[in-house]
Amino acid sequence: MIRILFVCLGNICRSPTAEGVFRRLVNEAGLDDRVVIDSAGTGDWHIGSPPDARASEAAMRRGYDLSALRARKVTPEDLAGFDYVLAMDEENVRALKALAPELEHKVRLFTEFSSTPTPAVPDPYKGGAEGFERVLDLVEDAARGLLRDVRKRLA
Ligand code: 4NP
Repeated sequence: MIRILFVCLGNICRSPTAEGVFRRLVNEAGLDDRVVIDSAGTGDWHIGSPPDARASEAAMRRGYDLSALRARKVTPEDLAGFDYVLAMDEENVRALKALAPELEHKVRLFTEFSSTPTPAVPDPYKGGAEGFERVLDLVEDAARGLLRDVRKRLA
């Protein structure tokens, strides 16, 4: 079993999008029973909330249903329990490392798996609709790279 946690700031835009996109890739690969997927936020403002309507609607237009997801805050136990803790940007990386410094080796940028050098999945919260499309583009690309890595680990 491989356990993957996607992390952003609010857990209502980027990391739920990554969870939904990667869940579908894993399902299509027939690996549902070998991969655990979850998401969380470093902030606590949106705990219990469904994804942002703009993120949900943009995802739904590409066939990803995020409606069952609810925001939660990342915990130190998450860093112990998940094999991959994948942050959307460097601010998330710093917050995660501060949460459990002894487990900082678990924390990586999700965009390490992108097909071209990509510094971050930028926060779309305060911007316009194009930011949410950009999140989906970057997440779909990095998710394909992550699936290749997961397949190697499972082999
Ligand atoms: P996310 O976006 O980290 O991709 O979920 C944000 C959501 C909410 C806030 C910031 C970013 N906020 O400040 O409430």
